[in-house]
Amino acid sequence: MSALDQIVSQAQKAFEAASDAPSLENAKAQFLGKSGLLTEQLKGLAALPPEEKKTLGAAVNQAKQAIESLLLARRQALADAELISRLSAEAIDITLPGRGHGLGSLHPVMQSWQRIEQIFGSIGFDVADGPEIETDWTNFTALNNPLNHPARSMQDTFYLEDRDETGLPLLLRTHTSPMQVRYAKTHQPPIKVIAPGRTYRVDSDATHSPMFHQVEGLWIAEDVSFADLKGVYHDFLRQFFEDDHLDVRFRPSFFPFTEPSAEVDMRFATGPLKGRWLEISGAGQVHPDVVRNFGLDPERYVGFAFGSGLERLTMLRYGIGDLRLFFDNDLRFLRQFA
Ligand code: FA5
Ligand code: MG
Repeated sequence: MSALDQIVSQAQKAFEAASDAPSLENAKAQFLGKSGLLTEQLKGLAALPPEEKKTLGAAVNQAKQAIESLLLARRQALADAELISRLSAEAIDITLPGRGHGLGSLHPVMQSWQRIEQIFGSIGFDVADGPEIETDWTNFTALNNPLNHPARSMQDTFYLEDRDETGLPLLLRTHTSPMQVRYAKTHQPPIKVIAPGRTYRVDSDATHSPMFHQVEGLWIAEDVSFADLKGVYHDFLRQFFEDDHLDVRFRPSFFPFTEPSAEVDMRFATGPLKGRWLEISGAGQVHPDVVRNFGLDPERYVGFAFGSGLERLTMLRYGIGDLRLFFDNDLRFLRQFA
């Protein structure tokens, strides 16, 4: 093997031995640098006669090209290896199962709310919405429930520190009945409306919660009777429960804003309270004084109103024995209605 071939094969070994870019550059200097082995060979050429200079010069150049291409190949190999090791260090484990997007669902009480709007909408009732913070006048007085009247104690009320312009404290509405007044004052008869929404009382047990939902119903025209109330309400219940054989009773009761008044009870058909009665609604013919507060003539306009508990209707629909389950937000409970 010629001296030049030896240098090339030495260079090949040195490049192979270099395990990273800096040591490869050091190895390069040993051969191609200013005082590298090959450079020394080139310097030696000067002293040779022209013929030899030519042949040896060509051989040295060939060796130089061979070393340079070995160097390039090794550089590329080192760069590839580095890229591969970086990629594998940064690799994402795509075999991990995804977290997924859990699809939510409507709360059972909200589902009842929607069913009720749909059922009453189908028989021509408008749907109205109103404030949860009410004035004393709209929540009580306009409904024939004057200050200091004992009937006010039927509804244990949350009061706010803020007062209205008459100096009375504002309050969280205890029922949706103030919506009768708000709606009737701004619409012309015949009036046919439901007003679902949140209501508040200082109440808490298996069938009462401090925040609950009611739906108010109001139908005022020239000839709407208590018989219409029974007919419309029964029909609503049959559609809501998808059952024509419900145990329902209208029990005589008292509200200052209706005369006569009734409360509606229904019997549980399933669940832990099966066979037990549960009150679902207050109802009655709207009192003439309240019709007057609507701004209407009670000699001409009559009709009925009702106020039903959405949690109670939902308990009866699914046979749920404790309404507090609706507010615990336990997914095991809620998923059953998804
Ligand atoms: C009223 O609130 C009257 N405004 C209903 C009414 C409207 C009568 C129109 C006449 C004309 P009562 O207090 O009974 O009535 O409540 C009505 C219904 O709301 C109850 O039957 C019950 O279903 C529900 N309810 C009352 N308090 C609670 C509570 N704390 N938690 C859950 N549901 C309740
Ligand atoms: Mg009641």
